[in-house]
Amino acid sequence: MISGLDDVVAAETILSDVDGRAGRLIIRGHSLDELINHSTYEDVLALLWEGLFTSSPSATEMAALLGKARLTVFAHLKAADTQLLKQPTLDAVRALVARLPDGEDADSALQLVAAPAVFTPGILRLQNGLEPIQPSTRLSNAADMLHMLKGELPTLQQSAALDRYLVTASDHGLNASTFAARIVASTRAGLTSAVLAAMSALKGPLHGGAPGPVLDTLDSIGNAEDAKEWLEGALNRGERLMGFGHRVYRVRDPRADAIKQAIHSLADAGQVDPKRLHLAEAVETAALELLARKKPDRPLQTNLEFYTALLLEALGFPREAFTCVFGAGRAGGWIAHAREQTLTGRLIRPQSRYIGRKPQPQPPSGDAGDAPRQASGSHH
Ligand code: ACO
Repeated sequence: MISGLDDVVAAETILSDVDGRAGRLIIRGHSLDELINHSTYEDVLALLWEGLFTSSPSATEMAALLGKARLTVFAHLKAADTQLLKQPTLDAVRALVARLPDGEDADSALQLVAAPAVFTPGILRLQNGLEPIQPSTRLSNAADMLHMLKGELPTLQQSAALDRYLVTASDHGLNASTFAARIVASTRAGLTSAVLAAMSALKGPLHGGAPGPVLDTLDSIGNAEDAKEWLEGALNRGERLMGFGHRVYRVRDPRADAIKQAIHSLADAGQVDPKRLHLAEAVETAALELLARKKPDRPLQTNLEFYTALLLEALGFPREAFTCVFGAGRAGGWIAHAREQTLTGRLIRPQSRYIGRKPQPQPPSGDAGDAPRQASGSHH
């Protein structure tokens, strides 16, 4: 048995390829570098979904369709009652996503991408006693998310930074949440069910739940000079450093640099606290040195989540919503994988090896009537 299915190929896909040795991510024939510099999230959505539904909208059509879908799902925020608003943000967003009907068509898919983009700022506002802001079909998905969060139009740099994040997060091979989506899609349950399974897998701190804890680490460290001692203490206690390490990458995660560049652009525009950025860079340097020294057999590098934490904080998202914003980007990939699985795959049903107790040998059935039963009540 291969623990954690390490290196096991469980699907063939035309969607994305993660080369862990070269540190390269390809999405439908385009490198991440190319996409972050030339494509919007709507472009990437059109690219990812090409050929997976009855029609393949262009990137411009995709932007209009996604804007319309944001307006459609906005109505579901009315169902957010006090019980739901008491839940952690991701759980509340997931509960609203569960209201969308299961389907396999492009309209269902668009609503599932629009849902985390609309529900996340909407739930956050409701949790803070504020009215949700109606989506604007004239804005890009990224700009509209920030508009719905703050009630004002974001700067160009802010919407570009969030758009780059959504592109960077859009797809990444057979990660845990995408695999969960493919498993559910393989049963033909429908796209909402597949996305709900994926969101649930994303929630965990070993996957999409890491960026909140990255900020907790920065807050606990406090000063750049204390980074080494704090991190060494954490490693000596056997703790994992959040935002470092990856199952597939043996070199630096290319997504970490994509997001680091976005933060530097925001910082150049005076929209990131320079002290926070200095602290994060000092923590990264100290963590990489310590991980190389203490875990020499396992190359452990910065992953996507480290600078994501800083970026989403600078854009005004509270840390409890970071995983939902990740889901707003990854939803495009989950749906593409779910459709690909439905169109080309079989039911996913692996085997387990039983290593539990064996049943006790039973006396031959003919003996039962001849001998009186034992009075003992012991059963195993
Ligand atoms: N800090 C300290 N040690 C680590 C870390 C880390 N972040 N990551 C792995 N290690 C160590 C493990 O303790 C283990 O050491 P050992 O052999 O001495 O026991 C060794 O590296 C191998 O660890 P595995 O658990 O086999 O690595 P795996 O591939 O299963 O884990 C994972 C990958 C879950 C991402 C891991 O690196 C981790 O927990 N990182 C922190 C959480 C995080 O940043 N998650 C976000 C991932 S990116 C994403 O999902 C978008």
